Amino acid sequence: MPTISFDGQEITFEPGQTIIEAAMASDLYIPHLCWHPDFPPHGSCKLCSVKVNGRICSACTFPAAEGQEVVSSSEEVRQLRLRLTQMLFVEGNHFCPSCEKSGQCELQAMGYYLGMTDNHYPHFFPVRDIDASHPHVLLDRDRCIFCELCVRASRADGKNVFELAGRGIHTRLVVDSPSGKLGDSNLDVNDRAAHICPVGAIVVKETAFRIPIGQRKYDRRTIAEVSVAEEAPLLRKRYEQKED
Ligand code: FES
Repeated sequence: MPTISFDGQEITFEPGQTIIEAAMASDLYIPHLCWHPDFPPHGSCKLCSVKVNGRICSACTFPAAEGQEVVSSSEEVRQLRLRLTQMLFVEGNHFCPSCEKSGQCELQAMGYYLGMTDNHYPHFFPVRDIDASHPHVLLDRDRCIFCELCVRASRADGKNVFELAGRGIHTRLVVDSPSGKLGDSNLDVNDRAAHICPVGAIVVKETAFRIPIGQRKYDRRTIAEVSVAEEAPLLRKRYEQKED
């Protein structure tokens, strides 16, 4: 098996794997928000930035290659990821203390993981529509980080309910329905797209605040621990299925 050096540790990879897949297959965490082992990479959040042979690359899209030297845990890389996370916070409206996703939110958990103590940048306070028209699913665009996981999941569901539209600060998550409202779309509460959002932009109604503080997903484990425990097995399963 070919190998790369990951933070000084030799790890093997299968030809065709990206750096994040190679790391994850060895239970090594690389921060990420828009990557998910079940979907094609999107390469938008850049949280997975690593240094490969001295150059910054996105680990979720960059293929692993024999002899690469990958640095993921340096202070320089942590600082870069911290600034990217702070940008994500200020370009949306993220009010963690009152958000029902608090304690279960990947963006919030990423902030904790990277030691974020302030926003660093001024807030944009964008004005975005909230869509509560669906009987079972709420779309709160204030919290969207444009990772497109719902878009990719809905594509895989065969429904294509979600898409991103607009550019820059005007980018918005839009819904494929005659009125543009979620309630008029064919999204079902059991669709994967209704459950894949890493933040609180798409949430299932009447499920909020059910888990007590102290028992929520990221109360006791870091995002790195949760990711290695939950996503690495999904990745391994995907490769096993490929081999069958
Ligand atoms: Fe690689 Fe988002 S995880 S760019």
